[in-house]
Amino acid sequence: MELDDTICYCFHISKRKIFNHIRVHKPRVPSQLSDCGGAGTGCGWCVPFLKRYFAEGQPGATTDALSASDYEQQRAGYIRAGKGRPAAGAKPLPPESPPSSSDAPTKEI
Ligand code: FES
Repeated sequence: MELDDTICYCFHISKRKIFNHIRVHKPRVPSQLSDCGGAGTGCGWCVPFLKRYFAEGQPGATTDALSASDYEQQRAGYIRAGKGRPAAGAKPLPPESPPSSSDAPTKEI
């Protein structure tokens, strides 16, 4: 994940905006990151990421191995599984990705 990638798809908030909010407003607890445009108050998908960014405090400390498209697909899976409901105005979910060959059922002979 890069600084300009979206972290909160419900409220269109980038990772850069989150870190700027942390730097400028110095929240005392992770839940105060919701003051940054409502981050984390929609479907809830981004909350673990917000907590991690809060703990790390600065963008250079983050180690996001996840790509932006993987992040978006995983959020879509979270929503489709009924674990959260996107906020009104949230970015629409991407189309479902076709199952990979490793996901295909194997037939025993
Ligand atoms: S992606 Fe942040 S609350 Fe839904």
